[in-house]
Amino acid sequence: MSAEPLEIHLEEQDLARSLREDVRVGLSAEPKWLPPKWFYDARGSVLFEEITRLPEYYPTRSERAVLAARAPDIAELTRAKTLIELGSGSSEKTRLLLDALTDRGGLGTFVALDVSASALRGSTARIAADYPGLRVRGIVGDFTRHLDRLPAGGRRLVLFLGGTIGNLLPAERAEFLGRTRAALESGDWLLIGTDLVKDPSVIVPAYDDTAGVTAEFNRNVLRVVNRELGADFVPEAFTHVARWDATNEWIEMRLRADRPMRVRVPELDLAVTFAQGEELRTEVSAKFRPEGVAAELAAAGFAGRAFWTDPDGLFGVTLARAA
Ligand code: SAH
Ligand code: AVI
Repeated sequence: MSAEPLEIHLEEQDLARSLREDVRVGLSAEPKWLPPKWFYDARGSVLFEEITRLPEYYPTRSERAVLAARAPDIAELTRAKTLIELGSGSSEKTRLLLDALTDRGGLGTFVALDVSASALRGSTARIAADYPGLRVRGIVGDFTRHLDRLPAGGRRLVLFLGGTIGNLLPAERAEFLGRTRAALESGDWLLIGTDLVKDPSVIVPAYDDTAGVTAEFNRNVLRVVNRELGADFVPEAFTHVARWDATNEWIEMRLRADRPMRVRVPELDLAVTFAQGEELRTEVSAKFRPEGVAAELAAAGFAGRAFWTDPDGLFGVTLARAA
């Protein structure tokens, strides 16, 4: 069965409007910041996939190890008919669950939702080709805004993998989990991947690799703003910074201005100045403790059913049920 045409829930205008608003607010703030969702144009999505193969970037390998070991249990516990993946990217690890659920029988539909149309186009076409008989839908959407568009009914399992929940700030996380719960019926399932707190000597290199791929991924947000809003950022004039914040237990990615700069954003009629050394925050990647994940899920109306880690205890995967 071929993938159904992508449903465009982020119409061009809506997408442009929310990028404009985020850039206006973030570049006018003190300190300056931009939300991480704007990394993922076609080039950013390819760079992220490259990151997942870096020797220093353990989260993807660790989460894959958990899924490889536990997919049959997840299929047996959930008996999902509809699998919905938020921030799906390439959906490569998802195949472990698709295999287990199709082996068990009963899975009818796979729905992938991502802000990156290019990532979705590739992933849904490949999955439709490899899982004949499965209905495959791609939704170009924002998981912080478009959860009301998820399909209703049919023993649903929502996946939120990769540790992407850590890219939301704590208040955004609570809102996201609450909205996810509201989109589900009691008895539906959520499988969520969370990178775990560990020694920063393991975490920091994952965000500051020797090949410089993460640095390019980080600078990509400036290229997106240049292309979409006509800005004149010089990405090469910003240094990639990855810093462990021990108080918040998160990594912050920043871009540090190498020299004083004035950047024009004509589409917003905005000019912003950077002092030499000034930093723009582009991403937070929170690391979790098992008890923290359980508490956040419970506060949103989910009952934890299982918590698994990889053999090295680097990454956690929680299966929870809508109460
Ligand atoms: N789940 C995949 C990809 C993780 S990368 C994995 O585990 O490897 C994060 C993905 O989330 C990207 O594909 C990005 O385009 C998407 N994304 C980021 N912010 C988003 C948002 N607000 N709404 C929808 N998708 C988003
Ligand atoms: C998608 N997300 C979970 C990644 C992370 O690890 O926070 C994005 C990323 N940023 C830098 N490297 C990877």
